[in-house]
Amino acid sequence: SLQDKINLLKNHVNEYPDFPKTGILFRYYSTEVKCILRCNYRDLFSVFQEPEIARTLRDVLIEFAAKVTPPVECIVAVDARGFLLGPLIALELKVPFVPIRKRGKLPGKVCSVSYTLEYGEDTLEIQEGSVKKNQSVLIVDDLLATGGSLSTACKLVEKLGGKVAACLVVMELTQLKGRSQISADVVSLIQY
Ligand code: PRP
Ligand code: ADE
Repeated sequence: SLQDKINLLKNHVNEYPDFPKTGILFRYYSTEVKCILRCNYRDLFSVFQEPEIARTLRDVLIEFAAKVTPPVECIVAVDARGFLLGPLIALELKVPFVPIRKRGKLPGKVCSVSYTLEYGEDTLEIQEGSVKKNQSVLIVDDLLATGGSLSTACKLVEKLGGKVAACLVVMELTQLKGRSQISADVVSLIQY
């Protein structure tokens, strides 16, 4: 069943206490401290080290993506770990995949949104014209923590005229209440 598959995935997610700092669990975003999380670091790469488990993840994501209404016309994913997931779904649904990247990485004309966090600031960018007006967009990422990344991704898609049909994340750190930042539907497979 779907729940069995999700439980299998949960058993294959690595948990790292004291990363990237001993004692207090900070999350760093490039050179800036983004926020302090009292949550262990969760790593989806461990899932991809086992092809059968990675296939299960792919199948579950596709099953969720196929149920979204209105039907998904474009997949958007967030730099960098979201890029592991977005194309897997986009290829199966036969829709375009569009990246959102950290500041200064995308060539050509870009649309930028900055967001302030507990410490410092971050900027995400999307290429102009990459999402079409009124397109039904599914945004995917590996993990929802404070919601800063995902809510900024929603703003970028909306700035281009796209409609965020839903956000799909593998893991949600529920105590951080990230989903309260996001007005679109948020689906998470695994909650911690
Ligand atoms: C992580 C994760 C999400 C984001 C979640 O990415 O992959 O995108 O943080 O945190 P938030 O909900 O507090 O915004 P990170 O920015 O660490 O970059 P990476 O994918 O390059 O490791
Ligand atoms: N990004 C933000 N918080 C995280 C956490 N606790 N584990 C992995 N990635 C994260």
